Amino acid sequence: MQKKIRIGLFDSGVGGLTVLCACRRVLPQAEYFYYGDNFHAPYGSRSKEEIEAFVTEGLEALKRHKVDAAVLACNTATAVCAEAMRKKFSFPILGMEPAVKPAAEKYRDILVLATPRTAESERLRELVGRFPDRRITVCALPGLAGAIEAHLTKGTPLTLSDHLPAGIFPQAVVLGCTHYTFFRREISAFYNCEVFDGGEGTARRLFSLLKIGRRDHPKPPDIHFQPPPSSKNFSFGGVIFLGKARKMNKKLFYSNVCSII
Ligand code: DGL
Repeated sequence: MQKKIRIGLFDSGVGGLTVLCACRRVLPQAEYFYYGDNFHAPYGSRSKEEIEAFVTEGLEALKRHKVDAAVLACNTATAVCAEAMRKKFSFPILGMEPAVKPAAEKYRDILVLATPRTAESERLRELVGRFPDRRITVCALPGLAGAIEAHLTKGTPLTLSDHLPAGIFPQAVVLGCTHYTFFRREISAFYNCEVFDGGEGTARRLFSLLKIGRRDHPKPPDIHFQPPPSSKNFSFGGVIFLGKARKMNKKLFYSNVCSII
């Protein structure tokens, strides 16, 4: 029997689940390991040193699960330490790239929403600089990732309009944080324009990196997470939470967080 490819995903919390869903749509046969560091989330305003230490801890855990490759399903972690992590670990590590390119291919006036760390990063500046004939506004949202994390995991009320910059009328919005994808539809309605996120593009880059090719499915399979067979063994159709986020397994998979993507 062919060995299943093992893919690790890392995020500061639940945001990377949006990328996990995209990966599973592209390659449902792979086995996924998800490390959501919800104990330390949100990362957005933390120091580079702190973020690097947390990401190292997460990737060490994924390494113990013998992953063939890992995705930093977190724009902030990617912006801060993707290069450093590639030097530390021997498996391929793929980062997130805000979907500025597909948005710029279609529209002229673009708003990029991101955490403060991502918004100020050299990586994003460089990406935006590749499209000099487009009007691209990058806006740092200090509280939104944390508010979404708290909303989805603790039920804390969330008012999106408290976080989104108003009075601007872009032709397209790019979500530069994986948490925001949970509210893709609402953000699209708020700005009345098309919204782009990096999940699907990341999934495609991952599978071309692994040279396993895209398997097309006429209809994306629904994502079903089975209740745990025992409280000690969380193995949800090949997906598990690791680290401090282990306690999230029960809660998240019983809820329909993933099915809203
Ligand atoms: N999902 C993370 C990202 O894509 C959120 C970072 C945070 O915890 O602030 O940036």
